This record gives sequence, structure tokens and C-alpha cells, in this order.
Amino acid sequence: MAVSEKMLPFSYSNLEKEAELALSKEPFTYVQSGAGAEITLCENETAFNRWAIVPRVLKDVSSRVLSTDILGTHLPASFILAPIGNQGILHPEGELASARAAAAFGVPFIASTVSTFSLEEIAAANGTGSRWFQLYWSSDFEVTASLVHRAEKAGYTAITVTVDMPVVGYRERDLDHQYFPLALGKGAANFLQDPIFLSRLSKPPAEDMTGALAHLQSLFFTPSLTWEKVKKLREITSLPIIIKGVLHEEDARKAVDAGFDGIVVSNHGGRQLDGCISSLDALSPIVTAVAGKIPVMLDSGIRRGADVVKALALGADAVLLGRPYVYGLAVGGENGVKHVIEQYIKDVDTAVALTGLTAVSEANRGTVRKVN
Ligand code: FNR
Repeated sequence: MAVSEKMLPFSYSNLEKEAELALSKEPFTYVQSGAGAEITLCENETAFNRWAIVPRVLKDVSSRVLSTDILGTHLPASFILAPIGNQGILHPEGELASARAAAAFGVPFIASTVSTFSLEEIAAANGTGSRWFQLYWSSDFEVTASLVHRAEKAGYTAITVTVDMPVVGYRERDLDHQYFPLALGKGAANFLQDPIFLSRLSKPPAEDMTGALAHLQSLFFTPSLTWEKVKKLREITSLPIIIKGVLHEEDARKAVDAGFDGIVVSNHGGRQLDGCISSLDALSPIVTAVAGKIPVMLDSGIRRGADVVKALALGADAVLLGRPYVYGLAVGGENGVKHVIEQYIKDVDTAVALTGLTAVSEANRGTVRKVN
């Protein structure tokens, strides 16, 4: 029986095991691992266990609204697929398969700057689906602007700028394997098809791919990026701009003051600073600081429907799903991602009903209790 015809696992841990079987050890580790001793990676999940849903009974929950709208984008079950780069290491169709699967359910897809396919190819695969573009700020501003303008042209309806990577996290297990997909060119498509980037090279990539990838790496991390500089994005696009990777409530206030349109509370799935706060623990103070002025989303640790209910109860407007869908990709390509999306929609629906809610918008601080 082909992998894609196999019954795919429903549980996150079995999905992860299947992905491990489907992949060689380097790409699997690249996805699974976190920075350092992986304490934050682990905390992202255990933080959800410190909160318990306290369900209400005997409410008519026969009809349930799972959807929400964020900055003009419709989310059928209050989740979006998180930007995950280099998806070609997991399946030959990489982001194309994920973007097609997302479109099949009307779930928005966030395409990473470091995708294996270009943002235009991903947009074509996503078709009439909805999509946002995730921007890694390049130290060459004209390259940054070019990526943003291309995303606008290709039908992306928001820019998510990721700010938690001034340098790459110390990912010990990737270091052990000396495995760096960006250096291998697995996340280079957006650059190799960018006229401004290409104009910077002394030789075309066809003649000197090593030089092209070295140049890409040289402008990829921007440790000098500041609030003042990132605000320049507003001058080059009229799309909503969401800032991803905020953990401190003071930064959330700065994001509001700087005119950003949304926030993703995220520690990058525990891949950047090990020992930093879990996303769920960071959420409430940020929600208080933002005071409803702009939407607040959360990622890092969403593994099942009840996690979505907990995040919404603690004030998130929506969540991003990360590792689970790319494990689906590794195991079954487009069908694998479809399977994961379908299960999450069902799981969110079940959790909402069993919590005693008729709509995700009813989840509030009274829905959950801190238990340890
Ligand atoms: C990521 N993440 C990420 N974020 C981003 O803004 N741009 C990117 O290119 C990537 N690439 C990436 C690759 C891999 C393999 C992983 C696992 C994650 C972070 C991602 O958007 C999200 O924040 C985390 O995946 C959330 O954590 P969980 O829920 O997946 O553990």
C-alpha cells in the first residue's frame, strides 16, 4: 500500500512517528528539534497543561461557529497554517502541496520567505485560497521591498514580518548533523527568482550557485533591525502588517504604537532562544497590553482542538498551526496535509461543543482555570 493510501494517524505523537519513518534523520530532526536543551520546545506544550477547560453543560450546542475573521481574512476554524520554510526537504511538492491542501479547506496559508518554491508558484498552487506572505527582513532593503511587492502582485493579502530571528537559534541537533537547508538551497527560490537579488550577483546562479547562496545567507539575518527600521514597511505596502515573534508585553505595546495591524505571540516553536517563555505563558499580559486594538494570534505548541480553545479563552483571536501540518506533508504530501487540516477542524469542533460553547467567540477567561 502506498504511503498516501495508508490510514494516517490522528494523534500528534503518532503523526510525528510516521514522519520520522518517512524521512531521513537530518530533515526530520530539522523539523522536530528546538534550540539548546529544548526546554522551551517542551514548555510550549506543557504550558497548555497548566490550564484546564471548565466545561459548561446542558447548553444547546447543536450548531457551532468555529470561524473568525482576522484583518479581512476568513479562518474557517480559527487557525492558519504557520510559515514553515524549506518544505522541499519533507516532500518533493513542498509548499505547493501544503498551499493546495489549505485552499481545499479555505484555511489561510502563510508562505515563508525561505520556501522551496517561489511565492508566485505557491500562489498559483493556492489558487483562489487565501494566503499571507511571511517576510524575513533582508539587510538589502531593495530586496525586502521587492519581495513585498511581488507578494502583493501574487494575491497575498497580508505581510507577516518575523522579528525573532536577528540570528539563528543555537539548534544543537542540527549542528550535530551539520544540516542547514538554507545553505543547501532548499529555501532559496524567492531569491533566485528575484530581479533585484539577481542584479546583486557577479555571476548568475546557473554559473555560480555557491556564490548566490553565500550572498543569500549574507543578507538573510539582520541583527541590526530595529522598530524604527521595520516601520519602513508601512511606506512600501498598504497590506496589513503583522509582527510575528513577540513575547514581551512592552513589545506588544510598541507594535501597537508603531502602527502594526496584528501580532503573533510566538517563540518560533522553541527554535530560537531556549529557556525563553512559552507562548501560552506570554499571551495574557500581551492581550492586556494590546487591549483589543489589534488582533493577537498565538503559535508554538498547538497540538489539538482543546489547545485552540484554551488559547482563545486566554485572549488570542486565532492560532497558527506549525509542525503538525508539515508532519502530514512528510507522511502523505498534499493528502497528508489535507488529513491534518480535516482532523484539526473536527477536533476544534468537538472541543468547542464539549466546552459548552456555540461559537469560538464565546471562549473567555471564565472558560479556563489555572490548575498548577
Ligand atoms: C518554522 N517557523 C518559521 N517561522 C517563520 O516565520 N518563517 C519560517 O520560515 C519558519 N520556518 C520554520 C521551519 C520549521 C521546520 C519549523 C518547525 C518552524 C516557525 C513557525 O512559523 C511557528 O512559529 C512554529 O512552527 C510554531 O511552533 P509549533 O507549534 O510548530 O511547535
